[in-house]
Formats: sequence, structure tokens, C-alpha cells
Amino acid sequence: MSETGPIGVVLGSGLGAFADTLCRSSAMFYADIPGWPLSTAIGHPGRLVSGKVGSADVIVLAGRAHLYEGYTPKQVTFGIYELARRGVRRLILTNAAGGINLAYRPGQLVLISDHINLLGVNPLTGPNDEAVGPRFPDMSDAYSRAFREIAREVGESLGLTLPEGVYAAVPGPSYETPAEIRYLRAIGADLVGMSTVPETIAANYLGMKVLGISCVTNMAAGMNGQKLVHEEVLETGEQVKETLVALLGAVIPRLIS
Ligand code: HPA
Repeated sequence: MSETGPIGVVLGSGLGAFADTLCRSSAMFYADIPGWPLSTAIGHPGRLVSGKVGSADVIVLAGRAHLYEGYTPKQVTFGIYELARRGVRRLILTNAAGGINLAYRPGQLVLISDHINLLGVNPLTGPNDEAVGPRFPDMSDAYSRAFREIAREVGESLGLTLPEGVYAAVPGPSYETPAEIRYLRAIGADLVGMSTVPETIAANYLGMKVLGISCVTNMAAGMNGQKLVHEEVLETGEQVKETLVALLGAVIPRLIS
């Protein structure tokens, strides 16, 4: 383990390719980790992969649990607690998201600058153990400004322009209606998705610094007259995977220095 502890990475729908690029890696299936809630969504193979990117120790969670699968907020954040147990203090969360901001295009990567929790639940609900984290965690830098700065610089060096955006989390599993998308835009959302926010809350509670990266897999409902289908989300993930792999591979060494 390096001085700073391993860097955690959570890979979203269709974005699992990075897990296969780690050096000196070892993998275990979630099913073999006691207590792990198993994911059912297509595009979520469900493995914990440990390995190296350059000199950085990395632990990748390829596949996550979602509320729409019926898991509780505690269950969907189980992986983040597991990463904390393994020494992770710096975390990269990736997801597939619908683009609400009119300037976005499918296939674009966006740095999450903040979120709006419309899930109606919070993973920290219930009794609190002050030894683990504060009752009322601060969320004013939930997606580390310093990490975003690094990611933007690294992106530039790779020829990528990485805009920032606010991610709104909705429960799903139905996609939004066009009216809901207009509402989300009006309240300041640039991106919409069904994950990440519980993990970000848990990670901040546990004292981690978070970098959030959304892959705009589709324009949100009603924006281009097309129906939304999960296959499109996975296909766009497939198209953008090389770019995401390159970005993660270049960002991670910068997060430990
Ligand atoms: N809405 C919600 N979640 C999503 C979308 C979307 O349009 N695309 C990918 N995840």
C-alpha cells in the first residue's frame, strides 16, 4: 500500500473496461465477499479488482447496486464502506447519465461539480457512530474542487475538454418524462442518473475526497424526440470506454502526488 492508501474507483453502467487495464491485478467476485449485495443490472459484472496504475494502488469496484433494484440505501453504499475498510481515502465515482445541459453531447465526459439528491433517502439515516463519521457531514465540497482541477488539467493534456455539471439523482427505474427533465433543468441540474449520490454521501461521511465523472450516454428525455433505451446507454458506454480508460489512467497517478 502506498503512503496515501489505495485509490478507489467505482465503474458505472457499461464502463467496466478500466478494471481490465490494471497491472498486477487480482479480482474477487462480490458474491465471495461476505455481506455484499449482489447486482442484477445488465452491464454490471460485479467484481472487486485490486491492482496498480503506475505506482498507485487502486481498488476498482466494477458494478454497483442501485436503489431501483430494491436494495436499501445502506446496501447500495456497502462497497464504499468496504473500500474504507481497505484504506481508501480518495475515490473516483463514474456513472452513465442523461445529458440535460443543452451544450452536452452523447459520449461526452463531464466532471460532477455538485449534486441534487432527489432519491428521497439518505444512506446515513439511522443511529450514528461518531467514531466512524459525523452525524451531520459537510457536503459543500462533496466533489473535491482540487480533484476536479487535476482532472481538467489531465483532460486537457489528452485533448479532452471536460466541462463541469450538477448531477441530479432520481430513483428510476423508469426514465424521466420530458416535463421532469424541464423541471430538473430549472432547478439547476446538468445531468440525471440513478446512482452515485448515496455513494458520494457515504464517502464524504467516511472522510474521502471524491472525483465524480459522468459519461453522457444519451440526451435526457424529450430533448431529441428519441425514445430512451438502456441499450443506447450501454452502447455509448462502449464507445467512450477507451477515452474513460485513458482519462482514469492519467488522472490516478496525479491524485497520489
Ligand atoms: N436518465 C436517468 N438515468 C440515466 C439516463 C437518463 O437519461 N441515462 C443514463 N442513466
